[in-house]
Amino acid sequence: MQVPFLNLQPQHQALRTEVLAALAATYDATRFCLGADVENFEKTFSTTFGYARTLGMNSGTSPLHIASLCGGFGPGDEIITTPFTFASSCWGISYVGAKPVFVDIEPDTWCISPAAIARAITPKTKGIVVVHIFGQPARMDEIMTIARQHNLFVVEDCAQAVGAQYKGASVGGIGDCGTFSFYPTKNLGACGEGGAFVSRHAAVMDRAQLLRVHGSPKRYTHTAVGFNFRMDGFQGAILNIKLKHLAAWTARRRAIAARYLSGIKRPDVQLPIIPAYGESVWHQFTLLHPQRDTLRAHLEKWGVGTEIIYPGPMHLQPCYAELGYQPGRLPVAEHASARCVSLPMFPELTDAQVEHVITSLNAF
Ligand SMILES: Cc1ncc(COP(=O)(O)O)c(C=O)c1O
Repeated sequence: MQVPFLNLQPQHQALRTEVLAALAATYDATRFCLGADVENFEKTFSTTFGYARTLGMNSGTSPLHIASLCGGFGPGDEIITTPFTFASSCWGISYVGAKPVFVDIEPDTWCISPAAIARAITPKTKGIVVVHIFGQPARMDEIMTIARQHNLFVVEDCAQAVGAQYKGASVGGIGDCGTFSFYPTKNLGACGEGGAFVSRHAAVMDRAQLLRVHGSPKRYTHTAVGFNFRMDGFQGAILNIKLKHLAAWTARRRAIAARYLSGIKRPDVQLPIIPAYGESVWHQFTLLHPQRDTLRAHLEKWGVGTEIIYPGPMHLQPCYAELGYQPGRLPVAEHASARCVSLPMFPELTDAQVEHVITSLNAF
């Protein structure tokens, strides 16, 4: 049996007729940049997850850039973040000339460690970029307590965690702002690029809205140096359709994760956990194994696709060499990077495929 790591075909074939009809309507109405489809999506996204407002954007990286500007980050500021993430989480910090300060992660959730944040604070610390990695919510209460004590601006990178809740609250609405990616492989994927920005502060939303479109509160008046970070109309129309299915897709991801957790029986595997404060939306199902390359080769022989997400922690990436981190500095993140393997995880996996992944793993 073949179990691909990811297959976007079944979801897009199932929605094909509905999506193409919506695209035709957007096309005929020439609603190409922002417009009614994007506004509808923003409203539904807000009501679904309990945000006051949402701003649709052109990627998950753009709202991270905007977040840094809204937080007032700039040269000379230190922003504490996690090394165990996709690079983009750090770009927003670097784009504005601030310095990323990488701290270690928790050994079980693989999210940023609140204790490590507390130890890294200096008079220059201005903010924290939290990443809910693989869809797992980070320990927000502890992080917000530290942030309040030191007057720090907290960005939640929810690119992988759309719909995840921390103690019943949607991630993205707990910190000072939240950012989302709708890259096609994400839990809520556009057919192209897309992202969103949310904040519980009206003033932050106003600033983000201004920066999204050329710093322009009215046509040809520019009160700030802004960007073109607009979401396009086609993506808004597609995301409107897909958002209706997200709860069911998340439930299916959770059922698959539950089966992996109960079915995989190997003492040499470290499985992900479900913390008491809230369950992951399982963007990835990632485990740690000391011989992950041999394990991957074995799974490949059994027809099971896997990926290494992420093989190199950010503090050791060449682009941040000037920061001077050496191997061994952040041992938990380095341990996870050296051992992580992600299994197939998408809602359209069949029960038989899930069982095949488990059988293959247990036979290693
Ligand atoms: C954690 C994280 N942050 C940010 C991004 C950036 O999103 P995008 O690729 O839409 O710019 C991604 C996804 O690629 C991500 O996984």
